[in-house]
Amino acid sequence: MAVMGASSGFAVSSQAPCAPPSLARRGASGHEATNDQQDAAFMSETGFDVIVIGAGPGGYVCAIRAAQLGLKVACVEKRDTLGGTCLNIGCIPSKALLHSSEHYEEAVHKLADHGVNVGPVTLDLERMHARKGEVVSANVKGVEFLFKKNKITWLKGEGRITAPGQVTVGDTAYAAKNIVIATGSDSINLPGVAVDEKQIVTSTGALELAAVPKHLVVIGGGVIGLELGSVWRRLGAEVTVVEFLDRLVPTMDNELGKAFERILGKQGFKFRLKTKVTGATTDDTGVTLTLEPAAGGAAETLQADVVLVAIGRRAHTASLGLAEVGVAMDDRGRVATDGHFATNVPGIWAIGDVIAGAMLAHKAEEEGVALAEILAGQTGHVNYGAIPGVVYTWPEVASVGETEEELKARGQAYKVGKFPFMANARARAMGDVDGFVKILADKDTDKVLGAHIIGPDAGTLIAEIVLAIEFGASSEDIARTCHAHPSLNEAVKEAALAVEGRALHI
Ligand code: FAD
Ligand code: NAI
Repeated sequence: MAVMGASSGFAVSSQAPCAPPSLARRGASGHEATNDQQDAAFMSETGFDVIVIGAGPGGYVCAIRAAQLGLKVACVEKRDTLGGTCLNIGCIPSKALLHSSEHYEEAVHKLADHGVNVGPVTLDLERMHARKGEVVSANVKGVEFLFKKNKITWLKGEGRITAPGQVTVGDTAYAAKNIVIATGSDSINLPGVAVDEKQIVTSTGALELAAVPKHLVVIGGGVIGLELGSVWRRLGAEVTVVEFLDRLVPTMDNELGKAFERILGKQGFKFRLKTKVTGATTDDTGVTLTLEPAAGGAAETLQADVVLVAIGRRAHTASLGLAEVGVAMDDRGRVATDGHFATNVPGIWAIGDVIAGAMLAHKAEEEGVALAEILAGQTGHVNYGAIPGVVYTWPEVASVGETEEELKARGQAYKVGKFPFMANARARAMGDVDGFVKILADKDTDKVLGAHIIGPDAGTLIAEIVLAIEFGASSEDIARTCHAHPSLNEAVKEAALAVEGRALHI
């Protein structure tokens, strides 16, 4: 293997890997303390303190935080741009299209109601995609700027762990005291439904469709299916969602899920629940799907112009050399970690979509920060009970903490407070009255255990309750907090008041 000089000058030969960190040298927190003077001097001569593999929100944030804490950091990324799935083909381009398509729908269907008359509205899909590209480009360049600012070395190419303490990129091996696997996830394929990213697409293809399909069939009534289904429905497609289970976004609080289905149905979504897709054929005219009841029964066919397969994502661990270095995986093919992101191999850690837990950008980021702090000898920590989940449809759906079903299942006595946006003055002024806020609190202590919101800007409103849960607040704490009038946030206050049966405006 070549001993190439990288821009950092830290390339080493594969024969001289940096020794893996000794388990005997743990910091006060019980985690590896890597920032003592001796180590720093050693590493600056022979390699990096940390090499992060993958520059998604988990990896790039971990790299930045580690650099802030004085560690010498490299990040390996095989894409041409930084930012991972989230910035390139996930959160950001999907939200750009959601926002643009919302404007289009408003112009076509809603502005006249506000007394704003516009001439015939036309769709310039090419411009919409171009704008999305500009948004993505600005974001990924922003991460590149942050790497330069924090003196993080970007090792361009595919990273492979060739030994504990050694990462190989192309022909060059780099030594690192700690290696962080942050390689994210990929779409799950459905047997019998071959993706070509034109007629049968994953989310990546669905973000790039060159024309609005007449009929889009989405397989999977989860977050991707409903967000991207919303984009194309707003732009004029008929959208049918085929979902295996009896409800949408199955992890969602049931009451919220039912309201969500009803509201999306009113918007024109068609749902085929308890149904599975068992095959697909394509020709010039479109796609023919074979559908069967989930519980078994007679098959039928459904025609589509485009089919979006959105049945979940799986950890991306291919070509990393994990089996060779002995990194253990869990039963779902994710990198197995302890509560502090350590794998079973000393000095190899993992965060983000590649490990257990919600596949969310902000969860990956929190883990990135916590791990960087652990690697610097601090006590990094993630509170998994206070991670919000948001579906960016309109209305938005947002949740944090436990659902009513989860509380029942663990025998927790609880109180419920609910408040509809119909009774919120600001929502009425906006003309967005669908949905409600629901707060769940401990029956005895009143501590907030969960909150579930469907309604305008739910994704922003949930932040208040995330903070409440983080601080261990009670519903009364929220109820006694002054909320500006007229604001959507008043619906949160009213729901908190409703926990004690004392909502004022209903
Ligand atoms: P990723 O972002 O997947 O990054 C991993 C990176 O590692 C990739 O850039 C990959 O190229 C690189 N890589 C992999 N293997 C190697 C290797 N061997 N060498 C070098 N580089 C490698 N989450 C939200 O919270 N909010 C949203 O609104 C949201 N919207 C989404 C919309 C879509 C369409 C999709 C698909 C996902 C969305 N997500 C959203 C999920 C979010 O994108 C992920 O949870 C998040 O990106 C995970 O971050 P990560 O750092 O773990 O991995
Ligand atoms: P998902 O897990 O949200 O939903 C997949 C859905 O497909 C489930 O409802 C499941 O029951 C269904 N399903 C599975 N197999 C099926 C089959 N054979 N036939 C029919 N239905 C089937 O997964 P999705 O939507 O692909 O998203 C992947 C991940 O990306 C999610 O975990 C999510 O967290 C993340 N994401 C987050 C977003 C956000 O935070 N706003 C936006 C988009 C994605």
